[in-house]
Amino acid sequence: MSKHFTKSSNDWLIKEKNFASEKQGLYESLFTLGNGYLGVRGSLEENPHGSNRGVFIAGIFDKSEGYVPELVKAPGWVDVAIWLGERKVAVDTCKVLRHERILDLKKGTLHRLTKFKTPEGKILQLETRRVVFSHQVRGALIDFTITPFNFTGEIKVYSGLNGEVTNAGYFPRERVKHLTLVRMSRSDDHIYLEMQARDNKTRIAMAATTVFNNAPLVANRVNRIFGEKVTQLITFKAEKNKSYNFTKWIATYTSREGYERQLEAATTDLLRDMVYEGVEACLSHHLKEREKQWGQIDIGIKGDQKAQLGLRFNLYHLLIAKPHHDPTVSVGAKFLTGEGYRGHVFWDTEIFMLPFYIYNYPDEAKRLLMYRYYTMEKALQNAAELGYQGAKFAWESADSGLEMTPSYGLREDGSKVKIFTGEEEHHIVSDVVYGINNYINATGDNDFLYKYGAEMIFQTARFWLSRVEKRRGRYEIRKVIGPDEFHEHVDNNAFTNYLVIWNLELAVRLYNRMKKHVPDILKELVAKLKLKEDEVERMQVISKTLLFPYDQKTDLIEQFEGYFSLKDFKAGKPDKNGLPLFPKGIDESKLERTQLLKQADVVLLLYLFLDRFSPEVKKKNYRYYEARTMHKSSLSPCIYALMGLETGDHHSAYKYFLKTAYLDLVDANKNAADGIHAAATGGAWMSVIHGFAGMKVRRGKLTFTPWLPQKWQELSFSCFWQGSWLTVVITPGSITLTVKAGRGVSVMVGEQAVDLLLGKSVKIKLK
Ligand code: BGC
Repeated sequence: MSKHFTKSSNDWLIKEKNFASEKQGLYESLFTLGNGYLGVRGSLEENPHGSNRGVFIAGIFDKSEGYVPELVKAPGWVDVAIWLGERKVAVDTCKVLRHERILDLKKGTLHRLTKFKTPEGKILQLETRRVVFSHQVRGALIDFTITPFNFTGEIKVYSGLNGEVTNAGYFPRERVKHLTLVRMSRSDDHIYLEMQARDNKTRIAMAATTVFNNAPLVANRVNRIFGEKVTQLITFKAEKNKSYNFTKWIATYTSREGYERQLEAATTDLLRDMVYEGVEACLSHHLKEREKQWGQIDIGIKGDQKAQLGLRFNLYHLLIAKPHHDPTVSVGAKFLTGEGYRGHVFWDTEIFMLPFYIYNYPDEAKRLLMYRYYTMEKALQNAAELGYQGAKFAWESADSGLEMTPSYGLREDGSKVKIFTGEEEHHIVSDVVYGINNYINATGDNDFLYKYGAEMIFQTARFWLSRVEKRRGRYEIRKVIGPDEFHEHVDNNAFTNYLVIWNLELAVRLYNRMKKHVPDILKELVAKLKLKEDEVERMQVISKTLLFPYDQKTDLIEQFEGYFSLKDFKAGKPDKNGLPLFPKGIDESKLERTQLLKQADVVLLLYLFLDRFSPEVKKKNYRYYEARTMHKSSLSPCIYALMGLETGDHHSAYKYFLKTAYLDLVDANKNAADGIHAAATGGAWMSVIHGFAGMKVRRGKLTFTPWLPQKWQELSFSCFWQGSWLTVVITPGSITLTVKAGRGVSVMVGEQAVDLLLGKSVKIKLK
């Protein structure tokens, strides 16, 4: 075994200690390996019954008979099946004497050890180590070792590329076939499989080979084809108590990357190159890259192992989802870890995941925003189809940006449920703009702002011009869904309206700024968009007169008009994961008649615009809405962690942080099998960096107002700010800031201005 496979220390390891069939899906999601280009679920090599394995490639969507385009399940390559005569050695065919898997977050390696006893009494151990490379995103390997303990005899290993894959589809108990076979080939040294998405003809090519590292005297390898599977069949004579070690190499390319003609050559060349380089060299490159990545993203928490490990798990998933230099893909609500939400991109990206990328990988953050820019044409179409002008980003976006939210779902009994989010959840439009502004604040990237951001800001503002209605002498926005999806078709949702006010103000400000500083660029843009001066005037008027439901007497913001007259129920007692149960006596099919909320709505608004609301307003609204929030969305607890810190509810903030960080690890929402809740991973980062470290942009300045949970002896991390890289070390009594690269910057620690020079650490006492 390569020395590179030694495991990191316990604060980097996520463990599965035995095999439980009902938890297969959960661990497949948790143990996903990836690099932003590829996501490979942590399924068992023998593909046991109940497995929902999956290999996903960023940006490959297909509809075919599906209800909406979905992220395509690519051919599987995790497949390694061991046979003893007629007996397949698998967790569902043999007695499992021992089973353990470990995901090493630091190294990005998945380790497995399973000891089987066949019904015939043969005992055999399989150890595997799997890696999806970080230095070469198209490459991966599985290292595996087979040891027979109580017998000598023939062992067969089928190690292949499996094109027999279908997606789960949208409706219950369906399968959708997205790929057709283009070509398979088998040469002496590898197998090759090429498949094509049925609608858009994108081709996926994979080449693989499995090599013996310590071949016994009697061994042979032949290639076999089974329908749409191409497999290397290795047969060897095994001796009792001897271990046999193999490496399976896999290379992937797609026609999306411009290798249309030379797809097979590119894929097989890569495979040969990797095999030639060898396991040691490839792993060493991979680990070097991973080390560099962790050097950037890691957050150290001393004194609280639970928080440390949980947080790292979330950082790991954010890291392996980081899109790889491709501005035409974004990160979906489940990353590349499962079929949940069919790989679609939601507001989760701009509000919950983007902050991590902005402060760690600003170039990738820009590419995520460019994805929205490339969907502009379809965003205009989305607006037009609803009878509006300007750009309406899709609530659920796939590859093109056309609205892909299904218009209905099916219950298990076959009855239909209408889904209104695609038609009504319009806050997405300004959530994207919020993301743009967040990126600009941290980077000062005016080039992006003028070339791409401005167009999105003007076209979204234009959407709102056509979306508002003048009633009762003021402007209103009727029939929307706010972040809290328990209530549909509501009028004047505070969250939406406030974002619109801000979006319009921003457009006007930007217009005036461009007029002054870059008149030529503005002129060109105005001509392209046919933007009229009077539209900009209307933006200003509406931003000043759009209704915002706020009660001055109580300081409470009404989530939407009429909300306070609904039946007032409070969230019930917590379940075993600390999430509230529905209160007694509630009819769960009529939640819209109550004040219960699915997820943070007004409280999220307060978080997004911290400095525009007084401490009193923040506190009162936090208290009011916290008591009524059911946290039925993974996006919710982190916002309460952040606002708990802002309003002095520190104890709850820590609890909400742990709920976010452990959401999938404890399968709190009971659906992690469908994929990791990507927004929660971003939320965990936000809770620690924007929350406990208190690092936020306030009045244009990077400001630190830390508060550490009692157990935390030290919190340390690094981050990007305006072209410089900073390291931050916080202890209960101090904060130490260092500019490690770039140039000096000025920041605030609480109310104190601090000038930082390159390379010089400044330690400040905290009160
Ligand atoms: C939430 C949305 C979220 C979506 C995808 C839904 O349950 O209510 O806010 O965008 O999941 O994560």
